[in-house]
Amino acid sequence: MALNQRTSIHGQWGSRWAFILAATGSAVGLGNIWRFPYVVGESGGGAFVLVYQLFVLAIGIPVMMGEILLGRHGRQSPINTLKSLCVDYGTHRLWTLLGWLGVLAGFIILSFYSVVAGWSLAYVPMTAGGAFVDASAERVGEIFQGLLDRPLELLLWHSVFMAMCFAVVSRGVRSGLEKAVRFLMPALFLLLILLVGYGMGAGAFAESLHYLFVPSLRELLAGGEAGSLGALMLGAVGQAFFTLSLGMGAIMVYGSYLSSRSSIPQNSVIIAGSDTAIALIAGLAVFPIVFAVGLEPDSGAGLVFITLSAGFGQMPAGALFGTLFFVLLSFAAWTSAISIMEPATAYLVENRGWSRRRGAAVVALAAWAMGILSALSLNVMSGLTVAGMGFMDLMEFLTFAVMLPLGGLLVALYVGWVLPRRVAEAELQLSHPVFNAWLMLIRWLVPLAIALVFLNALGVF
Ligand code: PHE
Ligand code: NA
Repeated sequence: MALNQRTSIHGQWGSRWAFILAATGSAVGLGNIWRFPYVVGESGGGAFVLVYQLFVLAIGIPVMMGEILLGRHGRQSPINTLKSLCVDYGTHRLWTLLGWLGVLAGFIILSFYSVVAGWSLAYVPMTAGGAFVDASAERVGEIFQGLLDRPLELLLWHSVFMAMCFAVVSRGVRSGLEKAVRFLMPALFLLLILLVGYGMGAGAFAESLHYLFVPSLRELLAGGEAGSLGALMLGAVGQAFFTLSLGMGAIMVYGSYLSSRSSIPQNSVIIAGSDTAIALIAGLAVFPIVFAVGLEPDSGAGLVFITLSAGFGQMPAGALFGTLFFVLLSFAAWTSAISIMEPATAYLVENRGWSRRRGAAVVALAAWAMGILSALSLNVMSGLTVAGMGFMDLMEFLTFAVMLPLGGLLVALYVGWVLPRRVAEAELQLSHPVFNAWLMLIRWLVPLAIALVFLNALGVF
């Protein structure tokens, strides 16, 4: 069955491990280290963690396999991959919209992702300079708010981060993306281990384990701090897609550079497993420090910037380890943001015949311009709200609660129902029973679960 004859014009990963590092680099980001702990904190701990892990397992991994197989089969940017598959297999042209939805979601995510990554960059010199040493949580909160209040500083760090992403993506798959992750991912891993060791010494490790891993049934049914089980599930599904980089073509485009001989199911399990492990480990690095100094875990988006910084400030060698923490956070954000830029960059190279440099520059500039609105929504434009949300919150809501789950739903429907079964069979190379189990999940469970979560969020039940 010679199904796969295409090669990518952008090149291929040097090895299977390069793909795993890059895809794990994409997955592990602000979502794990900044967002996961604060969403857990807001949703009340163990109940959320449990639902989130179930979603990763039953929805995330099957959809990831679907995205990678689409990418590897089409061997182009998501838009052109879908276009080619529609031609090759006579599926309806409208499915190309799935590629466009991804590119649009990517722009939106990148625009605010870069602003938050900018906070992290700003915190490196601030923490190293001892700004938080012995500072009260209140004082740290003022310092964070002070940063948000200064539009020029926010824009500066947002620009620096975007330039860092451009520097990598403009160099292409092998000498840009692959080179960056080969250095950054091991560094990230080492830093994380170091920080967990430090957190274990902080004293509230057992309390943190309990908080993260022991859900109470009553809490689960009531939806924890999220208010209802439906709200908790919508939060968990959005976080599951975001954290695994699914629903917008990032993993799909990385899959298009993957060797035909590498196992998609195995790789997916490794990537999703590492991402989940790192989110949990990040929780175990953050909460012990928060609890050890008697702070509350539910401070929201400011959790690692305010609460954790206050915690570090009261710990021995806190300035040093705090600095390492924000270096870690910045590295993680960097290896994710480059994957968010890649689908649109690859598309411009393919369709316009542009150089990588030019494609990456246009993508970075467009996302940068849009990010300005997010940065300004925190200060000079804070009065401008829709449904009580400022621009940045609105963009976050639009992608997390709508576009990513919708993208995941469409991937599942396309792969499960529209694309000929033999394509998935040839790409996944699974034994019959395992393939059938995957097909059941992608055809029934994934669409149903996402649809239910949507309907529930709309208040239908
Ligand atoms: N997975 C990344 C994180 O957890 C974010 C991301 C989303 C990256 C979508 C690529 C695509 O931070
Ligand atoms: Na992640």
